[in-house]
Amino acid sequence: MSKTLLILGLGGVGCFAAHLAARLPGLHVVVGDVRGEHARQVANSLISVNFFERAAQRFPRVDAVEVDMLHPEAIVRVLETWQPDVIFNATTLLSWWHQHRLPHALARRIYYGAPEGCGLRPWAPGHGVLLTNLMRAVRATLPQARVVNVSGPDYLHEMLGKVGLAPDVGVGNVALLEPILRCIVAEKRHVPPEALDVTLVGHHCMCMQIFQEGALAPEIPFYLKIEEDKKDITHELDIDRDLWAQVPAHMPLLSDIHQQCVAASAMQVIRAMLYDTGEILHAPGPQGLPAGCPVRVDASGVTVVVPPELGRERMLQIMYEANRCEGFEATADDGTVTATPHCIAVVEEIFGMRWRYRRFGLDEMFDAYKEITNAFTNLLARYQ
Ligand SMILES: NC(=O)c1ccc[n+]([C@@H]2O[C@H](COP(=O)([O-])OP(=O)(O)OC[C@H]3O[C@@H](n4cnc5c(N)ncnc54)[C@H](O)[C@@H]3O)[C@@H](O)[C@H]2O)c1
Repeated sequence: MSKTLLILGLGGVGCFAAHLAARLPGLHVVVGDVRGEHARQVANSLISVNFFERAAQRFPRVDAVEVDMLHPEAIVRVLETWQPDVIFNATTLLSWWHQHRLPHALARRIYYGAPEGCGLRPWAPGHGVLLTNLMRAVRATLPQARVVNVSGPDYLHEMLGKVGLAPDVGVGNVALLEPILRCIVAEKRHVPPEALDVTLVGHHCMCMQIFQEGALAPEIPFYLKIEEDKKDITHELDIDRDLWAQVPAHMPLLSDIHQQCVAASAMQVIRAMLYDTGEILHAPGPQGLPAGCPVRVDASGVTVVVPPELGRERMLQIMYEANRCEGFEATADDGTVTATPHCIAVVEEIFGMRWRYRRFGLDEMFDAYKEITNAFTNLLARYQ
């Protein structure tokens, strides 16, 4: 195999993904970031680490590029130069972990899904600006490239899908729950985690409350099936007590720089594309849908695998209802998104402002991002 993977954004997620990618045989890895010197050092690290690790490619083929993705023509130049087969977007203008610089009681109200919080609707523009520029550049320059995105996939792919700009698939979020749930159920039932299968349909808005508090507001819809040796045992479990309540004690490290589990979730999907495996995995935002579900991944992209006992109609109902808990009304045909009344009320109360970009279209995203970033900076200043 001789393929090229372009990783854009070398923060907590992208940097570790690059380390995992460099170990893959026959892969050319190109790492890009607005911080050009940082990208060069990350590329050099991949070589040194592979050397010391005696990896399959002791001197992997790695290149670094400086790219400011606020400028679409700069992205086009990178695509034309490197012609990647797969692109992994791990950029953002405002990452999730900044919210945890606020006191927890406040952070949970602008982070968790409704009714506990407003959902991630206010943060959508900060994740969406660079992703939108990337997708426009890909469609214009390299439409055959596969795009995997970690930045707000549960809601941004649905928005971008309205105008033909959805990435192939997202990573992380509900996918992060699979190994955790397998370990929890294995301990409870005294069986190996390998004997278990997890089928989950759910949105980002269920994740953080479960991760941090071991609980989930009953209003947030999801579908979960646990099988032991291929036999459905879900009804034998109390989901709140036996599963969600146990999650915090099984959580992997997840902080600004330590996002190894998220990067590994990304590489699971990317490997399946690069090596054309056809594996069935969990992933958010496939084929322009909100929320995550089982998907089959191969070199041609991603196909949604609907759990047969659930059916497509019920699955979509869960996904769109959950997207509302994340603060999104139904998206307009031109990709314009509008916040729910609950989301608007929480944002205006917490930030103490009249929220102008409660509704925004693709071309207003940068202004919407600036509005919420200024409001967030002011809020943070009150607590530091
Ligand atoms: N889906 C999930 O499960 C999941 C989990 C964790 C993080 N995330 C998301 O993944 C994304 C990455 O997270 P992170 O913590 O690594 O973020 P980060 O802030 O650490 O890194 C973002 C990177 O983007 C780069 N960047 C910023 N502006 C740029 C520009 N104009 N052009 C090119 N590069 C630019 C930065 O230099 C930085 O290296 C975020 O959107 C985060 O919210 C998703």
